[in-house]
Amino acid sequence: MRHPAQDLEPPNRLRPVRALGDGPPKPRQDAGIDGQILVASNRGPVTFAREDGELVPRRGGGGLVTALTGALHRAGGLWIASSMSDEDREQSTRGRISVEGPDAGMDLRFLSFDEDTFDRYYNGISNSVLWFVHHYLWDMVRVPQFDEQTRADWEAYRSVNQAFASALAREGSHLRKRPAYLVQDYHLSLVPRMLRERVPRARISHFSHIPFAGPTYIGILPTWMREQLLAGLLGADVVGFQADHWADNFLLACRTLPGTRVNLRHRLVLWDGREIKVRVYPVSIDAPLLEAAARSDEVTEATRRLIESLGSSKLIVRVDRAELSKNILRGFLAFEQLLVLHPEWHGRIRFMAFMDPSRGAIGEYRRYTRQCQLAADRINRTFGTAEWKPIEIQLHEDQPGLLAAYRLYDVLLVNPLFDGMNLVAKEGPVLNERAGVLVLSKNAGAHAELGRYALSINPFDVGETVDTLLTALEMNDVERKRRARGLRASVLRNRPERWVTGQLLDLKRLSS
Ligand code: F6P
Repeated sequence: MRHPAQDLEPPNRLRPVRALGDGPPKPRQDAGIDGQILVASNRGPVTFAREDGELVPRRGGGGLVTALTGALHRAGGLWIASSMSDEDREQSTRGRISVEGPDAGMDLRFLSFDEDTFDRYYNGISNSVLWFVHHYLWDMVRVPQFDEQTRADWEAYRSVNQAFASALAREGSHLRKRPAYLVQDYHLSLVPRMLRERVPRARISHFSHIPFAGPTYIGILPTWMREQLLAGLLGADVVGFQADHWADNFLLACRTLPGTRVNLRHRLVLWDGREIKVRVYPVSIDAPLLEAAARSDEVTEATRRLIESLGSSKLIVRVDRAELSKNILRGFLAFEQLLVLHPEWHGRIRFMAFMDPSRGAIGEYRRYTRQCQLAADRINRTFGTAEWKPIEIQLHEDQPGLLAAYRLYDVLLVNPLFDGMNLVAKEGPVLNERAGVLVLSKNAGAHAELGRYALSINPFDVGETVDTLLTALEMNDVERKRRARGLRASVLRNRPERWVTGQLLDLKRLSS
């Protein structure tokens, strides 16, 4: 199963590629963006697969990809990403390639790494250390323990970051005008500083799509690692986050780096003779694209089937990567408690959980997914009947089923422990047709924009989650409609282009 934000377009909307060699990226029409754009991210906007012997690009990434692809198309430039498949590796040997689509084309370059280096960089540091620290995921009595392996993994992380910085500097040197370098996420935290060492006058922004750990929690990292991370990010001119809370955490963490001066009020850091701005740019979704996907015949048919199977039952839905920070297990426990305390709901409610398998190379992820399945099995065994299965987990790809569930939910449960933004909280309200209620963790970045129309919960408080699910299920129509209208309007107000334009304007202001 793929999440809608990862794959809204059928593969054939992007035609196969042309190799462009090593010449300068061609400028396209100017969109008021000063100069061209060079984007770097671990996972690229497309990944290649072989179908019937042909290399076919599959598009990913929802609002982020839409926003960056649009900006790249208008300003010209290039996207650099890691190879994620054998077919991407094949493409990486061709240098810069161009992927053309009907409404947007872009140039991209894949960087390939040997298996061990990539494993240490991606699984070892990015997703087992940085992901854990920024989402507060450690069970601290026993983990983490940093040792020689951590140092070896860190060297691999540094070398991948160096490769990205070199590729960006090289591509930038082909351009007549100074480009804007847009570096994405925690995989590439060291790139801004490494790039600045190569191109001192570069205009660089770094954007974190995930939370940022507070000053105490980030202190768990070895001092050398914490200092390199912070100094790495401070190589940028603008350091961007999804929500105020993560920006403030970053500023407070910067105070722990010797030699910095931090102005919390104006969100500025003075470091190494430069002034770094810390800013908030909430990412959004491409609502028209999502709505178009939900109008397909397959989704219409899946919706009809779901309406029939639901009858008069209420529907709770959750949609996540099978991911520790999403708090899927406590969501199931809350549902279990609801059934224990409120037998009047037996047979009258269903819970559909769409869980996109993720990061299976990491043992914690495999164990967590298994635990979630076991909890759902227990609930189904305890309460289910021949006619009623309380929880249904979807671990395989069912895009039409997922979009149908968005259309029909009565309650959307989004209860992450901590989350940079959470786009599910935005996708659901755009498609829902039943004035469904959003139950939303106050620790999701999306809470800043949507909290006033959602029912907020502390994601650790299972009791509160039970009460809130009940409030949502029993809410009167007038109130449900008022909230649903507010959610939809809030999402539609923040168009995906705003996220990238804000960053480009802030970079442009530096040089004026
Ligand atoms: O939003 C955070 C993020 O890590 C993105 O960078 C990434 O594309 C997504 O989650 C999925 O993670 P992964 O690339 O590890 O599958």
